[in-house]
Amino acid sequence: MYTDFHAHILPGMDHGSTSTETTRNQLSAAKELGISTIVATSHFYPDIHRVGRYLEKRELSLKRLQDSVEDPPHIIPGAEVTLTYELPSLPDLEKLCISDTDYILIEVPEYTQTKWIFDALYKISSVRKLRPVIAHIDRYEESIAEELMDMGYAVQINAEALMSIRNRNKWIRKIVQKRIDLLGSDVHSDAKEYKYFSRSLKILKDHIPTLMQNADRILQNRPL
Ligand SMILES: [Fe+2]
Repeated sequence: MYTDFHAHILPGMDHGSTSTETTRNQLSAAKELGISTIVATSHFYPDIHRVGRYLEKRELSLKRLQDSVEDPPHIIPGAEVTLTYELPSLPDLEKLCISDTDYILIEVPEYTQTKWIFDALYKISSVRKLRPVIAHIDRYEESIAEELMDMGYAVQINAEALMSIRNRNKWIRKIVQKRIDLLGSDVHSDAKEYKYFSRSLKILKDHIPTLMQNADRILQNRPL
C-alpha cells in the first residue's frame, strides 16, 4: 500500500478539486493504484489566507469528503504553504503542519531572488522548531534545487517529473543518494493525473519501499 504525500483533493479548498464529484473520482483512481494514505495539501497562501479560517474551511471540506465518499483512503490533513519572507513569523504557523507532526510542506516561489529563501527556511527550522518538507523539488531552477537539497530538509518530488526520459535518471540518482525522500502526485482537478503516479510506481519500483518508509516516518513524526 502506498502513501501519496502531496495532493489537492479537498473539495473547494483551492484550485485543486472544486467539487465532491472530482474528489470522488480522484480517490477512486488513488485506491485503484493501492494508495491507502493521502496527505491532503491544499494551498495556503500567507498573503491571502488566515490560519484560523483556513483550518475551519479544511475541517468542513474534510467532513464533506467523508460524507460523500464511501470508504475513502486515509486522509491526513496538511497544507502546501507558500514560502514568503514573513512566513517564519506567522502566528500559528505550527497549525499548518502535517497532522500532529512538526513537518510542514513548503512550496518555494519559483521566480525570486534566492538568499531570503534560505534564511526563511532556516528560521522556520531553528526559531519555530518545525521541520520543512520541500514540495516538488523538480519545479525549481537547478541551482536552487541543489541548494535546497544540500540543506538537509525532507524533499518531495512529483510523480510527473519521472515522466521526462531526459531527467528521469537524474531524479532516480537523487533518490538513491537520499537527497529526495518522498513521492507525491500533486493531483489537482483531474483524476487522470494519477496516471503519472501509477507510472512512477513502476519506474521507481526498487525505490518505492524506501520512499514509503520515509512517508511513514514523517507521519509518525520521526526523523528521516
Ligand atoms: Fe501542490
